[in-house]
Amino acid sequence: MITVNEILNQQELSKQDIIRLLSITDKGDQELLIKKAYSIKESTIGKRVFLRGLIEFSNYCRKNCYYCGIRRENSKASRYSMTDEEILEVVDFAQRKQLTGIVLQSGELSSVDFIKRITALITKIKKATNPEFRITLSLGEQSLETYQRWFDAGAQRYLLRIETSSEDLYKKIHPVDDLHSFKVRLKCIENIQKAGYMTGTGVMIGLPFQTIENLTDDLLFIKERDIDMVGMGPYLEHADTPLYNHKDLLMPAMERFNLSIRMIAVLRIMMPDINIASTTALQSIVPLGREAGLKAGANVMMPNLTPLKYRSSYLLYDNKACINEDTDDCLNFLEKRIRMIGEEIAYNDYGDSIHFIKRK
Ligand code: 5AD
Ligand code: SF4
Repeated sequence: MITVNEILNQQELSKQDIIRLLSITDKGDQELLIKKAYSIKESTIGKRVFLRGLIEFSNYCRKNCYYCGIRRENSKASRYSMTDEEILEVVDFAQRKQLTGIVLQSGELSSVDFIKRITALITKIKKATNPEFRITLSLGEQSLETYQRWFDAGAQRYLLRIETSSEDLYKKIHPVDDLHSFKVRLKCIENIQKAGYMTGTGVMIGLPFQTIENLTDDLLFIKERDIDMVGMGPYLEHADTPLYNHKDLLMPAMERFNLSIRMIAVLRIMMPDINIASTTALQSIVPLGREAGLKAGANVMMPNLTPLKYRSSYLLYDNKACINEDTDDCLNFLEKRIRMIGEEIAYNDYGDSIHFIKRK
């Protein structure tokens, strides 16, 4: 059988190769994979990490995804929505901390009022920041017209995870109705690209019912769709959600963690010039999990800037990391830990996906 080393020295990875790499159990083989991915990241992007400040400004959501702690039917979630003034204060903080952009994330809403509010908010943020300051949106499924309106108002990037590229698995982790349609999700990703955004997607790793072949198809999906930015991380259970009933099917958290690290590494080898985020979910299993993600080829981190008083209400899963730490402390620690692994925060670079710039 061909060795992991031989696979890593090939020009292109076949589907079988990807399956093999994701299935690695040997520690030495995993190290080889990680080293290869990091060397590719280093030669295309450098020893640099891009930071985006994450603002989880509201946890109201119209959807009922089976895995998510802020799903509409979770009556235990205490709901909040930050005012524009509160959000602008965080934007101001981000600028003072020399962050080059922010990510606005919330549960999914689609009312006319919500759409108008976001358009006005983007305009306010544009006024309060320098013209280059990047605004990323992560506000779920919307119409092409809405995506276009927000883009025209000044948002440059949009994140919408496909969650899984398998329609079958998608149906197992979402209610099967018009509000949770796999085909609509796909169409939305296309529309986000059409509207002109730098486009991000991603998946959850280690879901109940998920196979290594599903994850391989996820990576191939990301490549085929010419995605610019990827955020993916381990699935983590939340006790007040329907998917918790299947927790006996899950692999141990450490295995989900290692599989996530291999997913990042393989994706970096497949797509050397995209932006890959090292997610909070990694850190929720291993304290230095996000640093491990960087060492496996990720190049973006999204420090949480949500005010502390709201942070513990934005619980997508149990044991979420960083919900009690002061934002300033969090950022200082982050800088130290990034240095510790021999990387630098890129303060003077907006960190646009090279893949996106080349494609334009
Ligand atoms: N575990 C891990 N990730 C989750 N998300 C939602 N719920 C969970 C969970 N239980 C992720 C989804 C969503 C993103 C905002 O958070 O991928 O797209
Ligand atoms: Fe809402 Fe997103 Fe959670 Fe689904 S994953 S319930 S859309 S916040």
